[in-house]
Amino acid sequence: MIPLKTAGEIEILRENAQILNEILAELLRAARPGVSTGDLDRLAERLVREAGVRSAFKGYKGYPATICASVNEEVVHGIPRDDRVLRDGDVLSIDIGIERNGYFADRADTVIVGRPRAEDLELIEVAREALAQGIAAARAGGRLGDISHAIGAYVVRRGYNFAKRFVGHGIGRAMHEDPQVPNYGTPGKGPKLRAGMVLAIEPMVWRAEPDETPEEEERVLADGWTVVTPRGQRAAHVEEMVLITADGPEVLTATATATEVAAKTGNEIRVSLG
Ligand code: MF3
Ligand code: CO
Repeated sequence: MIPLKTAGEIEILRENAQILNEILAELLRAARPGVSTGDLDRLAERLVREAGVRSAFKGYKGYPATICASVNEEVVHGIPRDDRVLRDGDVLSIDIGIERNGYFADRADTVIVGRPRAEDLELIEVAREALAQGIAAARAGGRLGDISHAIGAYVVRRGYNFAKRFVGHGIGRAMHEDPQVPNYGTPGKGPKLRAGMVLAIEPMVWRAEPDETPEEEERVLADGWTVVTPRGQRAAHVEEMVLITADGPEVLTATATATEVAAKTGNEIRVSLG
């Protein structure tokens, strides 16, 4: 059953999404060479506490931290560590979830720490554009497969590959509600999309090697959490919460301009932001 949210619930979800944005933006600004992912997790824990909200990740199926911090070949669910010190040019994805007033928020973004390599800028651009394609397909009267197809087809068209075993999801009173939102699918198939549905859409992508087929999958490391690319390529993960309305998709996690600039361009913009 896919829950439809009331106007009151949507208001809470929107507030939660905005609180989460502030926290995530601060974490991304703090991600600089010399900082460890363990440092970022401690900062996240403090920011979550100061915001008066609860971590949705810590303790979830035994997950030990407030954020997932996935560096370079790590796709998602990287566990923060004090000995994972960020270096110039690293690709860092931060995923964070919170709960407040019985409702959840979940978002992820990927930045480059310090000076970017051109191919990593492209990687992030492909992830964000894939997400934008998925969001654009989130229309009342359409089908879930429209969203999934829009993402996967775009990624493959760009010569990239994507995670198959990890999916987006409905979100509301639980972090993971129906439906699952895979990053590939068939247009016109799956549950009908209706106004009031809130979906966390989250492509996870990497550049495919010349002989890599779209069937080639990500792997999970022995820690039971960390997901890595099949050939060690760098990966990007971006996630937004999207409300389907009668007038089209609304991104609940949409950010104000200054925050968005800082979040999306990593450290490069830091100086000009003052
Ligand atoms: N943000 C992830 C998702 O959307 C959840 C991370 S799993 C956790 O499914 F264990 F870290 F919480
Ligand atoms: Co999610």
